[in-house]
Amino acid sequence: MDSKKYIWICLAVLLVLPWAARAKVSGSCVNCHTMHNSQAGSPMAFTMASGVKTYTSVANKGLLTTDCVGCHQGGNSSGSVPYVFDAAGPTYGATGTEGNTLAGGNFYWVSTGNNRAGHNVVDLAGQDLEHGNKPPGGALLLSQLTCAGTYGCHGSQGQVDPTLSVLGSHHKNDMSAWNDGSSVAKSYRFIEGVKGLEDGDYEFQPTSAAHNKYYSIDRTGESDSAGTISSHCGRCHNDFHNGTGEISAGIFTNNVWIRHPTDYDMSNARSQGPTFSTSEYYYYNDYQGAGNPYSVISPVATADTSTTLNSVVYGQANDAIVMCLSCHRAHGSQFDGSLRWDYKNWPGTGFNGCAICHTAKD
Ligand code: HEC
Ligand code: HEC
Ligand code: HEC
Ligand code: HEC
Ligand code: HEC
Repeated sequence: MDSKKYIWICLAVLLVLPWAARAKVSGSCVNCHTMHNSQAGSPMAFTMASGVKTYTSVANKGLLTTDCVGCHQGGNSSGSVPYVFDAAGPTYGATGTEGNTLAGGNFYWVSTGNNRAGHNVVDLAGQDLEHGNKPPGGALLLSQLTCAGTYGCHGSQGQVDPTLSVLGSHHKNDMSAWNDGSSVAKSYRFIEGVKGLEDGDYEFQPTSAAHNKYYSIDRTGESDSAGTISSHCGRCHNDFHNGTGEISAGIFTNNVWIRHPTDYDMSNARSQGPTFSTSEYYYYNDYQGAGNPYSVISPVATADTSTTLNSVVYGQANDAIVMCLSCHRAHGSQFDGSLRWDYKNWPGTGFNGCAICHTAKD
C-alpha cells in the first residue's frame, strides 16, 4: 500500500475511535492500551513517524498501542482528540482561528520542510537547518526537540523519555478546573509548572467567549515570574524573556525596550504619554468593536486565577499582559517564525495582527 493511502486510512481510524475529548481520557482500555503487544501472534503496538504507521514488536511504554504522535495525528473537528499534526494539510486561514487548527497551530508546515514554520519535533520534522538544536536566545540542547520531557515542552522536565514524563496525567486531566501547576496533570496542557485554564476544545475556532485563559504576572524588572506561559518559552529561549540588559536598556522603569515586552501589562504603556487613555493600547482590539473584547487573534494573559473566563480586557488589573503567544503559535503555523499571522507580507497579502494592540498603526 502506498504511504499516502495509509495516511488516509489511519486518519479515518483515528476519527471514529470513541474518545471523549473534553475531560480526562475515557472509553475502552483497548482503544489505547495493549496488554502483551500480541494478538493472534502479531504485534499491536505501532509508532508514527512522518505520517507513516509502523507496527513494532518492541512494546510501547505504558502498555500503550502507540506514541504521542500516533494518538495526536489527524484532522480536527469540534470535540475531537486534540490533533496537532495533520498529514493531509490543515486549513489555517489568515489568523489560525478560522480553520481546523488548534491553539498551538499545527506541525504540518514544519513537516513539509519549512524550518521556520515551527518547532522541529522528532518524528514530525527533520532537524532545523538554520538553528540545529539551539533555541534562539538560549543554550544548545543535547537532542532534537521531542513532544515531552527534558528536550520537549510537555511533561516533567526531569524525565528524558516523553511517555514517562507525562505518565499519570492523561487519566487525571480536568479541563474545568484552574491548573495551579502543582503536578504535571494539574499544569496547563501538561506543561510542568505552568498555570492556566483550558478551553474544552483546545481553541477549535475560538471566540472572545470561548478560549484558553493564559496566566501571567506583570513584570517589574528584567526577571520574570515562574508559572507564566512566557516563562515556559523562556526555559529554552532565555534571553528573549529574562536577564539584565536583555529586555530594556538601563533601569527597567525608565528606559526603552530592546526586546518586545512580554509578561508586561499593557495598561502600563509608558512610551506614549501623558496617560494610558491617550495611548493606542487603550483601544486594544477595536478591530472587533468597542469595549475591548478579548482577541483570539492576538491574545493576552491575565494574573487572575479564577475559573471565570476573561472575555473582556481591562475589566480588572493585570488582565492585559503581552506574552510570547500574543504573536506566536507554539507548535507551528503557515508563516515564518511560527507567527500567528502573515507579518512579512503586510501590507499586501499579509495580515496586520500587530494592530490588535498597536491600534494606531493599521
Ligand atoms: C484514549 C486513550 C486511553 C484510554 C481509553 C485508556 N487509557 Fe490508560 N493511558 C492512556 C495514556 C496516553 C497513558 C500514558 C500517559 C499518561 O499517563 O498520561 C495511559 C496510562 C495509563 C496507566 C498508567 C498511568 C496511570 O494513570 O496510572 C494506567 C494504569 C492506565 N492507563 C490504565 C487504563 C485502563 C485500566 C483503562 C480502561 C479503563 C485505560 N487506561 C484507558 C490513554 C488511555
Ligand atoms: C493512546 C493515545 C494517546 C497517547 C499515546 C498520548 N495521548 Fe495525549 N491525549 C490523548 C487524548 C484522547 C487526549 C484528550 C483527553 C485529555 O485531554 O486527556 C489527550 C490529551 C493530551 C493533552 C491535552 C491535555 C490537557 O491539559 O488538556 C496533551 C498536552 C497531550 N495529550 C500530550 C501528549 C503527549 C506529550 C504524549 C506523549 C508522551 C501523549 N499525549 C500521548 C491521547 C493520547
Ligand atoms: C524545550 C525547549 C524549547 C521550548 C520550551 C520552546 N522552544 Fe522555541 N525553539 C526551541 C529550539 C531548539 C528551536 C530551534 C529549532 C527549531 O525550530 O526546532 C526553537 C525555535 C523557535 C522559534 C523559531 C522557529 C524557527 O524554526 O525559525 C520560535 C518562534 C520559537 N521557538 C518560539 C517558542 C515559543 C513561543 C515558545 C513557548 C510557547 C517556545 N519556543 C518554547 C526550543 C524550545
Ligand atoms: C498583545 C499586544 C501587542 C502586540 C500583539 C504587539 N505589541 Fe508591540 N508593544 C506592545 C506594548 C504593550 C508595548 C510597550 C509599550 C510601552 O512601553 O509604552 C509594545 C512595544 C512595541 C515597540 C516598541 C515601541 C515602544 O513603545 O517602546 C515596537 C517597535 C513594537 N511594539 C512593535 C510591534 C510589532 C511589529 C508587532 C507585531 C509583530 C507588535 N508590536 C505586536 C503590545 C503589543
Ligand atoms: C510582539 C510580537 C512578538 C512577541 C510578543 C514575541 N515574538 Fe518572537 N518573533 C516575533 C517576530 C515578528 C519574529 C520574526 C519572525 C520573522 O522575521 O520571520 C519573531 C521571531 C522569534 C524567534 C526566531 C528568532 C530567530 O533567530 O529565528 C524566536 C525563537 C522567538 N521569536 C521567540 C519568542 C519568545 C520566546 C517570546 C516570548 C518571550 C516571543 N518570541 C515573543 C514576534 C514576537
